[in-house]
Amino acid sequence: MTYQGLIQRYGRYLDLPDHTKTISLLEGNTPLIPMPRLGRQFGCELFVKFEGANPTGSFKDRGMTAAISEAAGRAVQTVICASTGNTAASAAAYAARAGLRGIVLIPEGKVAVGKLAGAIAYGAEVIQVQGSFDDALSLVVEITQKTPIALVNSINPFRIEGQKTGAFEICDDLGSAPDWLCLPVGNAGNITSYWAGFKQYQKGLPQILGVQAAGAAPLVLGHPVEKPDTIATAIRIGKPARGEQALDAAHESNGRIIAVTDEQILAAQKILSAEGVWVEPASAAGLAGLLAESAAGRFEAEGKRVVVVCTGHGMKDPSIITESFRSPKIIPSTYNALLDAIKL
Ligand code: F0G
Repeated sequence: MTYQGLIQRYGRYLDLPDHTKTISLLEGNTPLIPMPRLGRQFGCELFVKFEGANPTGSFKDRGMTAAISEAAGRAVQTVICASTGNTAASAAAYAARAGLRGIVLIPEGKVAVGKLAGAIAYGAEVIQVQGSFDDALSLVVEITQKTPIALVNSINPFRIEGQKTGAFEICDDLGSAPDWLCLPVGNAGNITSYWAGFKQYQKGLPQILGVQAAGAAPLVLGHPVEKPDTIATAIRIGKPARGEQALDAAHESNGRIIAVTDEQILAAQKILSAEGVWVEPASAAGLAGLLAESAAGRFEAEGKRVVVVCTGHGMKDPSIITESFRSPKIIPSTYNALLDAIKL
């Protein structure tokens, strides 16, 4: 049978109510790409879980198929979320697929162009809030408490159910859980989901390295950050909704949550691109964390199996690349000009 999406494949492991009406874009089933050249640097067997291959270009589709399927099954008419961009694009696509009204709140001027374009293209009502993601999240929580609009942020438990499938797929591909799982942490839904997924699937447990951006690292600092700031806008979050659960996951797994600088994130993004894997800045945070820990002698990778979760596609945030590189050369359309330009 051809692939029919995550609820069809893993629904029996997901705690979804009977009224759930599957809404799918055949999300999930993303590649676990071996990275032998990079792995040799650490002496480990390294893989990238490339979540940019999901239908809307990020891991959010895993949770969104579950949340929208649940909402659609109980005749909800309108869904809403706050977002740094990827949740917005995903909610917009699944709401469209389900025939629901989709409303997304984003922090003004702080959402990468590929995400904003996605949310608009899928037909959501996009509202920019003069504030941070955290401010936008407070607003959507309030409106969903006072009206019948359904919340599809990862506070919604069905989002977590859907996102557990990332852990299931990794176990199915490798035959067991890896030794380490490295991933970015923003609102902390994904780290919570992966840990729940590994525990439930019973194919072993990884140690988890959660990575925040230094300018938005409430879980490392131990207090909320009022004005989070990072080039990795996806994880520009100062008050993670599932912060406690993220800390529990790190602690229970004998792992940790660390912070890396924007420079380290951009360097990791370049390293991945040089291997043919283009991810958005936030998505490179997992590798940046692994590199930082390894350089500091805090990561014993020798002979280990390590999975780095790359959460979103590079095409989500093209301006990061085009702004930092010189424009391509322009030549007359002659053979000699071409030879000249490539300096053979
Ligand atoms: N990576 C990317 C590309 C993201 O978009 C996000 C979160 C994360 C990592 C962090 O995941 O929040 O579960 O800890 N993006 C949310 C959004 C906040 O609105 O798209 P998390």
